[in-house]
Amino acid sequence: MTQQDMGLDWEEDFQRLTPSQFFRKNKQMLGFTGKIRSLTIVFHELITNSFDAAEESGILPDIDIELKRVDKEHYILRHKDNGPGIPEDYITQVYCTMFAGSKFRNIQSRGQQGLGCSGCVLLSQMTTGKPAKVISCYKKNDEIKGVKMKFQMDVKNNTGIIMEKEEFHCEQTGVCIELQFKEVSYSLAEQGAFEYIRRTMIGNPHAKITFRDPTGHKYIFKRAANVVPVQPKEVLPHPKGVSADDLMTMAQNTKKKRYSSMLTSSLSRMSAKRVKEIAEMTNIDMNKRPKAMTFQEAEKIVDSFKKMKIMAPPTDGLIPIGSEQIEKGMKQILKPEFVTTITRKPVTYAGGVSFIIEAGLAYGGDSGRLVNGQKKSEIMRFANRVPLTFDAGSCAITEALKSIDWKRYGLKDLENTPLTLFVNIISTQVPYLSTGKQSVSPEPEIVQEIRQSTMKLARQLQKHLRAKRAAKEKEKRSKVFEDYVPVIIEEAAKLGETDIPEYQEVLAKVTKRALAELLGEKIEEEEEEEELDAIIMEELDEHGYVVDSENSSLNFEEEDEETEE
Ligand SMILES: Nc1ncnc2c1ncn2[C@@H]1O[C@H](COP(=O)(O)OP(=O)(O)OP(=O)(O)O)[C@@H](O)[C@H]1O
Ligand SMILES: [Mg+2]
Repeated sequence: MTQQDMGLDWEEDFQRLTPSQFFRKNKQMLGFTGKIRSLTIVFHELITNSFDAAEESGILPDIDIELKRVDKEHYILRHKDNGPGIPEDYITQVYCTMFAGSKFRNIQSRGQQGLGCSGCVLLSQMTTGKPAKVISCYKKNDEIKGVKMKFQMDVKNNTGIIMEKEEFHCEQTGVCIELQFKEVSYSLAEQGAFEYIRRTMIGNPHAKITFRDPTGHKYIFKRAANVVPVQPKEVLPHPKGVSADDLMTMAQNTKKKRYSSMLTSSLSRMSAKRVKEIAEMTNIDMNKRPKAMTFQEAEKIVDSFKKMKIMAPPTDGLIPIGSEQIEKGMKQILKPEFVTTITRKPVTYAGGVSFIIEAGLAYGGDSGRLVNGQKKSEIMRFANRVPLTFDAGSCAITEALKSIDWKRYGLKDLENTPLTLFVNIISTQVPYLSTGKQSVSPEPEIVQEIRQSTMKLARQLQKHLRAKRAAKEKEKRSKVFEDYVPVIIEEAAKLGETDIPEYQEVLAKVTKRALAELLGEKIEEEEEEEELDAIIMEELDEHGYVVDSENSSLNFEEEDEETEE
């Protein structure tokens, strides 16, 4: 054996993978593991894209999905939306190029990575070898253009190959995609595609979805609210949230001619006054050209950000669902006996990324899930309105909910109560734990916010259950009163040898007042709130969380001390 046979043959062995080649080998990283899960992820990617696209154009999403079974584990999926459509020149990039898209901005959207729908096309091609079919109707120069396309993914080059193309006339904008899949399975289980749609409707009461399942049954999930969510604005990164590497990237890509203008135009809360302070702290000339920035300089500047008091990031870039809308969604889907919801104020994690936590709690009715004939609790996790169905164990939401002492709120435990807990995190940068986007990183500030909001809801439930119990008790006692008083009066009349007096009207009045006094467990609202705050503080303290989020280590100035430039 020669030396060359034994070692690495650089000419032969050294390769460069395109993202598509990488994900072809690692499809589990896109969430495609298991037959049920793979199909749910496909639904998820296509639905989130349709929602993002429609909302960005101010359209109320209306989606039509049809899933046909060709054979066991072989399906054809047709997904049609009423969004703005995709211009012809971008269709193969959208569906065949990985890491390509319009959402690499600091903006709140469901998509973030430019991987979703190309991942679906890849899975379809890998399992069936069939091409994708897309119909797109889009506006061009005030005219609606229509194009039908059949294409395949060129994995080696991370692009698409068009096989057929035909232009046609259409009236309304939107996209319709048809893909075939094998080795997937449609299921009604908690992790199946149907449940995914059901949950989607809770987080998106403004949408309409029509779904025809493989048996031909048509489900229409109606809109519970008729307003398109306000479009979130793009927010510039906050100085406290950027690293030296981020700053270097900004310096390389900016069109600005000086450090000073680059800083004020690329970061939020950066004024000329602030730049002057940085110059004094670092001794760096702020008139230099950004392209000349060294890593050491970037480090020094980032260091000075840390020492400065900077106002919290602007929050108009975050648009929550809103507690009223969540309530509508939960009522429509769960028909609960009791529901309570909350939308918290924006706060930050990792130094400067804003987020909002919203939560809802539904009790009774169709809340919870049925396991072997027993009602259990269910946790519905959402990020930017998208249901997260998998990887629950590692998620900040699960961690926060499990860490609450539910007994304090009169519940036996979380598991065995017929309730549905809804938690949604809204952010321009949701810290997902993987490219599959199914769980949120348990950043301490996020866990803390979820705990606080859910504890407030749990307290409301406790009040409801107490009132319900008291009402039952009242009814029972009132019944006793009503049953015995007439007997006593009649017997007394007999003993006294007089006529039975007219007592019904008086009795009704007396029972009402007497019982109110007897059972009146009137606890002042204020007292309850104080008690609740004390419990929350105590629990947070026990778990080692920062209790006062406004004065945490972030060192933000008060909102009204400075205005955005
Ligand atoms: N139904 C649609 N209508 C209009 N545009 C779409 C539609 N679906 C996808 N797009 C466009 O294609 C791009 C790529 O979509 P893709 O799902 O691959 O990535 P993404 O949504 O940007 O991020 P993520 O990987 O996190 O889903 C989107 O950014 C959007 O610009
Ligand atoms: Mg997407």
